[in-house]
Parts: sequence; C-alpha cells; structure tokens
Amino acid sequence: MTTIHLPGLVDAHVHLREPGYEHKEDFGSGTAAALAGGVTMVLDMPNTQPPTATADLLLDKARLAAAKAVCDVGLFVGATNTHADAYLPVAQRACGLKVYVSDTFGSLRIDTLELMHRFFRSWAELAGEVGYRMDGHAHGIGPIAVHAEELMLPVCLSLSHLYSVPLHVVHVSRRSEIELIRRAKQRDVPVTCEVTPHHLFLSTDDLGRLGALGDMRPRLASADDVAALWENLDVVDVFATDHAPHTLDEKQSVAPPPGVPGVQTMLPLLLTAVHAGRLTVDDIVLRCVHQPRRIYGLPAQPATHVEVDVDARDVLRNEQMKTRVGWTPFAGMEVIGKVVRVVLRGQVVYEGDQVLAAAGSGRVLFQEG
Ligand code: NCD
Ligand code: ZN
Repeated sequence: MTTIHLPGLVDAHVHLREPGYEHKEDFGSGTAAALAGGVTMVLDMPNTQPPTATADLLLDKARLAAAKAVCDVGLFVGATNTHADAYLPVAQRACGLKVYVSDTFGSLRIDTLELMHRFFRSWAELAGEVGYRMDGHAHGIGPIAVHAEELMLPVCLSLSHLYSVPLHVVHVSRRSEIELIRRAKQRDVPVTCEVTPHHLFLSTDDLGRLGALGDMRPRLASADDVAALWENLDVVDVFATDHAPHTLDEKQSVAPPPGVPGVQTMLPLLLTAVHAGRLTVDDIVLRCVHQPRRIYGLPAQPATHVEVDVDARDVLRNEQMKTRVGWTPFAGMEVIGKVVRVVLRGQVVYEGDQVLAAAGSGRVLFQEG
C-alpha cells in the first residue's frame, strides 16, 4: 500500500439542487459525496428552483448551504431572461456569473444577443469598480462561466474579447471546441476551460450500455472527440465534474432529464489514468486545486489534505455513492486509487467510508463584507 497526501480538491462545477430539487440532492448529501471523493471545496451552479438570479435568492441559498454543508461551498449567480442582471448587488458574494446559451436541465438559457451584451457590459463595469478576484485580490468578482456548445462558443469568446471579461468555458467536449479555445488563447482572449471526467472516460460507444444514464449536456462525444481532449490537455485548465444528480426513476422515465452525478468518482478515475501513464499526479493537482483557485480567486484551505492509497483496486458500485440518487454512470468500472482519509482545517472529516464532519462545518465562501 502506497499512501500519498494531496491538497483538498476543488470541484468547480456541481449542482447540489437546493432549493427546489432536494429529492435529488441537498447541501448535506452533495458535500458528503464530495468529501468521499477527496473534494473539500465545491462551486455550486444556479439552476435550482428558483434559480439563483437575484440578491435575495443568493443570500437565501448561502443560508441553506451554511446550515448543512460538510465541505466549503462557493455559489454562482445565474443570468436569466426575466431578471436581467438582478444579481449585481451580490456579485462579490458569488464565485462567478453562470450564463447558459445552450439547452440543458432547467430554464436558464439566454435567448438574445441584446441580453448577452448587457451581462458582459455590466460585469465589465462592475469589475472596473471592484476588480477581479481572480487577479489575486481577496475582493472583487470572478469570471463569467458559460455553457456554450458548438456555434455558441465563438459568440462567447467574441464577447469576452470585446468586453475584456475573463471567460471560463465549462464542460468542453468536442474537438472543434478545444481547438477553437487553443486558438483563442494564442490570440490572448482571456479564456480558460474545464473538462469533465465523463467526457474523458466515456464516449458514444458507451451509450448502448448506459442508455439514459449516459445522457447529459453536452452529450457524450465520439472517440475522436475524446482523443482530442486528451491530445489538448495543455489547453485544459480545470477538471470539474458537472455533478448533476437526477433520481433513477427520473432517468428511467419517458422524458429523462440530462445530467449524471460525478463528484465522488473524479479522483479515483483520474488516479486510474495516472496508473495507466496518461496523467501525472501533478496534472491532477494543477487542474483540481491550483487552477480553480487562480481562476475563481478561491481561498486556500489551511491544515487540509486528502490521503489516497494509490495502489488500492476497487470496482465502483452504486451502493458506495453518497449522493442522494445513489448511482453512478461508472458503476462496474475498475479503478486504482482510493480516498482513505480527508482532513479539513485539522479535523478528520472522512475516514473508513464514513463522513465524520458535522452538518454546517463547511464554510460558504465570500459571504463576509
Ligand atoms: C445539468 C443539470 O442537470 O443541472 N445537466 C447536465 O446534463 N449537465 C445542467 C448543466 O450543467 O448543463
Ligand atoms: Zn452543469
């Protein structure tokens, strides 16, 4: 047995479903799943019910998270067609602004270029006053994170360039997209991007086996797209899961919602790739700790680490999953590398497959002031 210590991981893209969809997940169950996956900080998306589109709704959500979370939580505000930029008064209490321009679960897709101008313009104006936290300042605002697939990607790159607003492209999944982001970076567009484990380790070849359990947005891609993500890893700033739980009943219904859980399985999958010689441990720490911290201006977590047995073999099973929905699209997959213990701010919060942290011991980021 070889045990290594890693810093606590950041998962910069999770859907913890509270408020409104607590039958899928809440801040307690979702952050418990995070600790079991060696993740000590998560950034939570705004497509809840109601969506996190106004100042009051962000503050309400912060209270819910503070009461239940067992790891640290940052909260996104979300752009909507109806509330415009009503989130602006609390922009500094959010980790960033999420804008959906492609279809997915929830109702947050922005429909007009006019609104897109407004979101980028008002974000740039506010940054002119308070600065970007991502530059290393403790205060200020984070980037605009976009769900922008296919032809929507160049629209967002262009707005980022024209307004000089840092853009983070979530869950990049296609060769055309990663190659475009490479070119944009070469031309000094202020863009960063993330890739999910499911787009690295699954492809359309798995769809027959998985059915609706393999349906998410962006959809699983071809083997060539998957190869392109691996070939262009130097362009990939962040690994993040897009942990998007839906119940098995919902996934087996006539109109299954897109999305799959993932926060607990990211580290074992990435460590298995290390074992196979496709990644190094440093590649993981860069993309799951240092880069998310830099991009979102996240605080370091003192006296925090994850102990991993890098030789332990395990077969991922639904029963191990701490997410309320109790399943994983990776069930049956053999992994090498197991989270043994997690220490957060000097406290053992996970050990022997058990979450030991008290509800509410996780902190909600950026709420002071
Ligand atoms: C996400 C969800 O269920 O909230 N679904 C998904 O397929 N990824 C929404 C999203 O991140 O697009
Ligand atoms: Zn998502």
